[in-house]
Amino acid sequence: MRDLTSETITEAVISTMRDTKDSRVAEILESLVRHVHAFVREVELTEQEWARGVAFLTRTGQLCTPTRQEFILLSDVLGITMLVDALGNGRPAEATQNSVLGPFFRDDRPQHADAADISGGLPGTPLFFEGRVVNREGAPVAGAAVDVWHSDADGHYDMDVPGQVDPAMRALFRTDETGHFSFRSIRPSSYPIPGDGPVGELMSATSRSLMRPAHVHLLIEAAGFQRVTTMLFPSDDPYLDADPVFGVKESLTESFDRYEADAGPCRELTDEPYTALRRTFVLEPVAAG
Ligand code: BEZ
Ligand code: FE
Repeated sequence: MRDLTSETITEAVISTMRDTKDSRVAEILESLVRHVHAFVREVELTEQEWARGVAFLTRTGQLCTPTRQEFILLSDVLGITMLVDALGNGRPAEATQNSVLGPFFRDDRPQHADAADISGGLPGTPLFFEGRVVNREGAPVAGAAVDVWHSDADGHYDMDVPGQVDPAMRALFRTDETGHFSFRSIRPSSYPIPGDGPVGELMSATSRSLMRPAHVHLLIEAAGFQRVTTMLFPSDDPYLDADPVFGVKESLTESFDRYEADAGPCRELTDEPYTALRRTFVLEPVAAG
C-alpha cells in the first residue's frame, strides 16, 4: 500500500477494514468511506476547506454538554434525524406519526394526575388539552405513559424562563381505562432553535430561518406498542412550511381552537379567552418476533 493515488486510495482504506468482526459495522464503514471519498472528489475539496470543516466539527463537539447537544441539532437541521426515523419507523397513515425528540425533553419531570395545571403559573393564553390513546382498532390503551412538554408564550422552555426553577409546561401522565388523559397549561409559541453555535453559523450561511412552528411535544409509551415521539402543530402556524428540523407532517397539524371566556367546551374552567385542543393518538403494536 504505497504510492496511493486519488483513484486507488478508497479501495486501500476499505481493504484495511476487511477483518471487521461485526458485518453490519463493516457494511456501514465501507459505505461511509466510499461516500465521503466520493464527496471529496466531487467538490474537489481544498486543504483550507477541509481544515474549516474539521474546525466546524470540533466546535460542534466542544459545545456538547449534558444539557446541550449540538451534534443532534446538526443532524436535525441536515434532515438526518427525520430520514433515519422515516426509514426505521414507517407506520400506516392511520397511526400517529413520529417527529423529532428535540433537546428540551427532561426525564426529571413530575407525574401529574388527570386535568392538572402544568403551567407553573406562567403567563399566557390558557390551553386545555384532552387526549386519547387507542390501538389500531380504536380500543382504548389504558395505563399508557404520556410525556408532554412545550414552550411558553415567548417560545422558552422552562429551563430558559428567567427565574423559573421548578419544572413547568412538562409532565408525565397515565391514561385511564378509557385511554383518556388531559391537562391545562398555556398556549406555546413558535421559537428559534439555538443559533449561537456552529449550527447557527451553518443556518445563517445558507440563509435559513431558525424558527420552528409552535408545537406541543408528546412521547407515548405503552406495553406491546411502538413508542411514539411526536408533536402537534397549530394548522395555521406561519412557520409550518419552513421548519428548520423538518419535523412537520400534515397529520400532526391540528386546529388549536380559540374560544371566548364564556364560550366553548371549557367555559366552566376559565374566565379568560382560551385555546382547546383535542386529539386521539393511535399506537401500532410492536412487530412480532
Ligand atoms: C424542539 O422542538 O424542541 C426542537 C427540535 C429540534 C431541534 C431544536 C428544537
Ligand atoms: Fe420543541
